[in-house]
Amino acid sequence: MITFRPESAADHARVEGIVEAAFGRPLEAEILAAVRAGDDCVSTTVAVDAGQIVAQVLFSRVSLSGADHANLCALGPVAVDPPRQGEGIGSALIRAALEPLSDGRWDAIFLLGNPRYYARFGFELAAPLGFHYSQLEFDPAFQVLRVDETLAGLAGWIQYPAAFAGH
Ligand SMILES: CC(C)(COP(=O)(O)OP(=O)(O)OC[C@H]1O[C@@H](n2cnc3c(N)ncnc32)[C@H](O)[C@@H]1OP(=O)(O)O)[C@@H](O)C(=O)NCCC(=O)NCCS
Repeated sequence: MITFRPESAADHARVEGIVEAAFGRPLEAEILAAVRAGDDCVSTTVAVDAGQIVAQVLFSRVSLSGADHANLCALGPVAVDPPRQGEGIGSALIRAALEPLSDGRWDAIFLLGNPRYYARFGFELAAPLGFHYSQLEFDPAFQVLRVDETLAGLAGWIQYPAAFAGH
């Protein structure tokens, strides 16, 4: 049975190995490590099967200029150990990690990813709602969940933690 729990310090090496293997490059694991070490980490959650971590998802705090009152976060990176992809683990992990973020604290949750995958969790394209990620070329992949009335009338560029800079 797959279970979900917060990542602990003892998990870091295994988790970063999974993230690097899933993306086929070290960049996303480096972003995860940098966010985790800073002030903007909201949560990192792991999926565990038979005592072994098989997936991980990070949520970090993001911001919008002129919306200091809004509580915004972003999902990603999310990664499933390559031999275990396509079994539903990523979807179950994302649902489990989103659940505690549904307590009314968060006015919106953003992510960059394939809309065909993330629509199942309720994410929708952010650009038609006025929100963008660093450059307009990312609009087809930039999505948002639960835009609260706190954001009414606001629009602009979502600022990610410095660890994401340039990506
Ligand atoms: C993307 C990822 C987290 C999904 O987790 P998973 O456990 O493999 O996926 P699930 O079994 O929950 O869901 C499978 C579905 O996801 C789709 N899917 C898997 N990877 C996808 C991707 N990169 N883009 C779009 N859809 C994807 C499959 O086509 C399948 O669709 P279906 O349910 O309509 O048949 C995982 O495949 C992964 O780690 N990929 C490499 C890293 C990555 O791309 N991370 C996300 C960046 S946004």
